[in-house]
Amino acid sequence: MADVARVLTLSLEAKVRLLTGADMWSLHASEPLGLRRIVVSDGPAGVRGERWDERDTSANVPSASALAATWDAALVERIGALLAAECRRKGVDVLLAPTVNLHRTPFAGRHFECFSEDPLLTARIGGAYVRGLQSAGVGATVKHFVANDSETERHTVDVVVGERALRELYLAPFEAIVREERPWAVMSSYNGVNGFTMSASPLLGEVLKSEWGFDGLVMSDWWAAHETDRPGAAAIDVLMPGPGGPWGAALVAAVRDGRVPEAAVDAKVERVLGLAARAGALDDGPAVEDPAAPAPDAPEARALLREAAAASFVLARNGGGLLPLAAASLRRVAVLGPNAAVARTLGGGSATVFPPYTVAPLDGLRSALGDDVVVEHEGGVRAHSRQTVAAPDLLRSPGGDGPGAEIRFLDTGGAELGRERRLGGAFAWHVHYADGIDAGSVAKVEVRTRVRAGGGGEHLIGCSGLGRFTLAVGDGAPEAVELTLPPGADLAAAHMRPPQHAVPVTLASGEEVAVALTHTVEGFPFDTPGDVFRLDVEPSAAPDDERLARAVALAEQADVAIVVVGTTEEVESESFDRVSLGLPGRQDELVRRVAAANPRTVVVVNSGAPVLMPWAEDVAAVLVTWFGGQEYGNALADVLLGQVEPGGRLPTTWVADEQGLPSVTPVDGTLTYDEGLFFGHRALGRGLPEPLFPFGHGEGYTRWEYVSFAAPARAGEPARVVVRNAGARRGREVVQVYASWPDSAIERPLHWLVGFAGVEAEPGEEVAVDVEVPLRGLEHWDAETGGWALEGGGVTLSVGRSSMDLRLTAALRID
Ligand code: BGC
Repeated sequence: MADVARVLTLSLEAKVRLLTGADMWSLHASEPLGLRRIVVSDGPAGVRGERWDERDTSANVPSASALAATWDAALVERIGALLAAECRRKGVDVLLAPTVNLHRTPFAGRHFECFSEDPLLTARIGGAYVRGLQSAGVGATVKHFVANDSETERHTVDVVVGERALRELYLAPFEAIVREERPWAVMSSYNGVNGFTMSASPLLGEVLKSEWGFDGLVMSDWWAAHETDRPGAAAIDVLMPGPGGPWGAALVAAVRDGRVPEAAVDAKVERVLGLAARAGALDDGPAVEDPAAPAPDAPEARALLREAAAASFVLARNGGGLLPLAAASLRRVAVLGPNAAVARTLGGGSATVFPPYTVAPLDGLRSALGDDVVVEHEGGVRAHSRQTVAAPDLLRSPGGDGPGAEIRFLDTGGAELGRERRLGGAFAWHVHYADGIDAGSVAKVEVRTRVRAGGGGEHLIGCSGLGRFTLAVGDGAPEAVELTLPPGADLAAAHMRPPQHAVPVTLASGEEVAVALTHTVEGFPFDTPGDVFRLDVEPSAAPDDERLARAVALAEQADVAIVVVGTTEEVESESFDRVSLGLPGRQDELVRRVAAANPRTVVVVNSGAPVLMPWAEDVAAVLVTWFGGQEYGNALADVLLGQVEPGGRLPTTWVADEQGLPSVTPVDGTLTYDEGLFFGHRALGRGLPEPLFPFGHGEGYTRWEYVSFAAPARAGEPARVVVRNAGARRGREVVQVYASWPDSAIERPLHWLVGFAGVEAEPGEEVAVDVEVPLRGLEHWDAETGGWALEGGGVTLSVGRSSMDLRLTAALRID
């Protein structure tokens, strides 16, 4: 990796320049080195590229909690390969994914973006994601190192976590992936751990690089580092983004003053060159770009994304075997709920991409059922409380010559610098405005459009963002609006939960009104030029009471009622945590009333993380479908109608209530992981409320018998399990092995996952499968010796269908 000769040829200034991003999404080029620009991009639900809007669409893959729910590394590896093709199509060298923080609590805002509560499952699925990407020549960035398991005060919080939990749980997926997959990059997190901010943490040098032998590049999370010397001397290599930030001239001075050794700078530059070598970016290597790579809506992408979404759906409950539905017996189907017509296919924040299309449940079912079945829809209730961004179908160009909005970039004198036509109301320019416009010269951005009402009634027309706006609606005088964040707010909220303003406007159906919105560019909230704001249009809607009644009426007449409930971007997003696990709005009431009206009610849950289901026992079937990516609705139809089995198993404990969960709220800047090792299925038997659905749970469309289980002959060897498909159709079972250590001298969970394997069988077929039980799952971190230890004695291994449905046990002796 080291290319010392090259490093030595550079001046200190030239070396330091390479250690801060060139802009938002790339690393600097260097002519003397023949080094081209290296492009990075979020991740993980798709490859966004350098532009963050509807003009640059991306294949939208299921979110991480969905991918983990497949428990299928081979499938996730194929998703990684698809993402690699997307990177090539967009000229991206390194994807900023996967996120391998843990589901410590479902209150975490980015739960959907992380795989699982379990380090083994996270490592296997995250490792497959990395393998898929990297074997196609694109780099992965495993993030966020480490203990960034919630969002509250994420930029400043110090996470205090015991050494065993840190090693055995939070570091474990990073360790496994670093050792097995050699990721090109790791991203350090915003937070601190045990007193050190992660961009200057000794864990980077002592553990990640020295102990595990990580040979890639460590980059900071965006704007995570605020000081020069400590990160300068630590094992972080590149600060993102740039070109500003705390290094540059200040780091040169720190080296000259002897506060940061030049050797530290050289070591960082070597890592940059190592990454460049892997990316083929040295010696005037060509850009990664491959315009011939398949489009994000190519048939292969569609098919794989449909398969993956269906494989992730977890049939949590199937009372009376209601599912699968026999399409031939259906005449009238009610598709209800706020997420039925507009599904959420991904979570909020930096993971957001703009898919080329999305298939909502209603679309998927309509196209699968065809014209012979009457499919009726009613949203029933409103799940969101903030005003929403203007949907493309509501915007007409100001000149009336087509859809969309006209954007003009103005200089301080009001002269037009450039313009662009846009199809939605979400605007984000990072560094680059319209082609050729110097970012620093834009003083105002003006949006002009005509809002055309779908239904008649009161609409809210307004804006979201930060700073000064003027808003003119119809013939009204322009109104001056100033939007500010509360003190101490996460700056990313400018993107993810910006302050809002709107005016009510009553429009008849089809009526149009002219809207002009101007934003004054007063410095992007970060030190990178650009601008971010939204034009919002919240269409009129009938009151919930009326819509609930309509939903119930449709359910009464239908052969089956499918209620699609879920969270919104107000609930599950980067930059804030959840305040409640309840479904937003009156969705619980909707489910209860529909289920009372029709006993054949299927509830489809469209969320990236557990939500409370106080009605779970009262509905026939519950299908957990996560954020399923662009093919979500087609996959849903496949599963509901039995074309495909719901393949998923819960990668996280589905809690029944909010009691006893780890806290996400720091106290005086510190978040203590008081629960230690004991969260998720590791907390079973410790007096906490029983889960609604346990970790590992998921029905399918067939039944499984566990025939025999043989423990490994020696620790570290595989266990052998024989299962029989006792049902009437082919299926896939996820065989799960848990360990318990009743006589252990150290504190351990009641039992914990130590191995799993997927197995497929025809009806009546018996299949044997070897399940790897890696030694690491039985070892513990011994804080006294500072190393891993394997206790002697008797371990009980159990195999079964979930952490609470263990069928057979076997003893393993460790001498
Ligand atoms: C997120 C990272 C992301 C980065 C760049 C940060 O706010 O925490 O996950 O990669 O932004 O968008």
